[in-house]
Amino acid sequence: MTETEQASQYPPGWWIVALSREVHSQKPLGIKRFGKNLVFWRSEGNKVHALDDLCPHRSVKLSLGRVRDNCLECPFHGFRFSPDGNCALIPETGKPAPGIAVPSYAVEERDGYIWLWWPGSNGQTGRVGEPALFEEVTAQTMSWWDDAVDQGCHATRAIENQLDTAHLAFVHATTIGRGSNPKERKRVVAKEMEIKIELGNVPEAIPYIRLCLPNYWINVIHPRFMATIAFAPVDEGRVRLYMRTYQRFIVFPIIGRLITWVLNVVNRVILNQDTRVVESHPVGTAFAGLEMKEQLVGSDLAIREFRKWWANELQKASSKEE
Ligand code: FES
Ligand SMILES: [Fe+2]
Repeated sequence: MTETEQASQYPPGWWIVALSREVHSQKPLGIKRFGKNLVFWRSEGNKVHALDDLCPHRSVKLSLGRVRDNCLECPFHGFRFSPDGNCALIPETGKPAPGIAVPSYAVEERDGYIWLWWPGSNGQTGRVGEPALFEEVTAQTMSWWDDAVDQGCHATRAIENQLDTAHLAFVHATTIGRGSNPKERKRVVAKEMEIKIELGNVPEAIPYIRLCLPNYWINVIHPRFMATIAFAPVDEGRVRLYMRTYQRFIVFPIIGRLITWVLNVVNRVILNQDTRVVESHPVGTAFAGLEMKEQLVGSDLAIREFRKWWANELQKASSKEE
């Protein structure tokens, strides 16, 4: 699948694409997201910017360059690009070059994440609104632990897996799925930008899962213990899961961190059980699995809602394009 075909698979929106700490102040970060090579860098005041990681002069990676005078300088011939992607200086003339530019993206930094406004395949959708944070974790005093795990599947497959409660009794039979009854149907509530799954018997109570569309997920296990995952799409066959484990049983700095680390190790074991299965999805068959004639059943309600949202957003984006 070409880069453009891949890029067209992701609905416009605010996506978590990296951790703040991955973008250093002097060293640009080159990563692949949405099937494209992107470069993230910081200008004065630590502000993060994102550009296509491709110099418009002679096509090398800008991420190999350096930050100079609030610009990103190409490693090859020193052209400088400002945060909006315009060429601010060509060394040969000592002047800006108005006709030369690199595509740029709106980015925000919140809660230790880098959020990127993905504009759709042809950059047709300008930013709308702000990144949506989970009040469950932002409004509270918590200690937390960050981790990242790569899975060899499309982002939609990894997201669907975390909306799938029927797999617990099988994939996680030795851990969280022990004693889980596949006949027990969970309540699913879908709103405009959210899919919620109530895991207990009491409506609107803990425990529950919420997916804040497109790619931010929380599992509120207990009022003092929760886990989040942000699913950053790398390309059609890879996704990076930024997992964070929060707790507020003990928030004393060192002991609190130690507890989140232990909880994170447990979460990682559980996630590894998923990885084996999700990596067996055939690559290229998913943007929300719509291309495959999969036979969904009653317990797939949350997945059905996710696919419906995804298809609808892509449809809206493509009608804007026309
Ligand atoms: S390739 Fe970037 S300045 Fe020449
Ligand atoms: Fe799982």
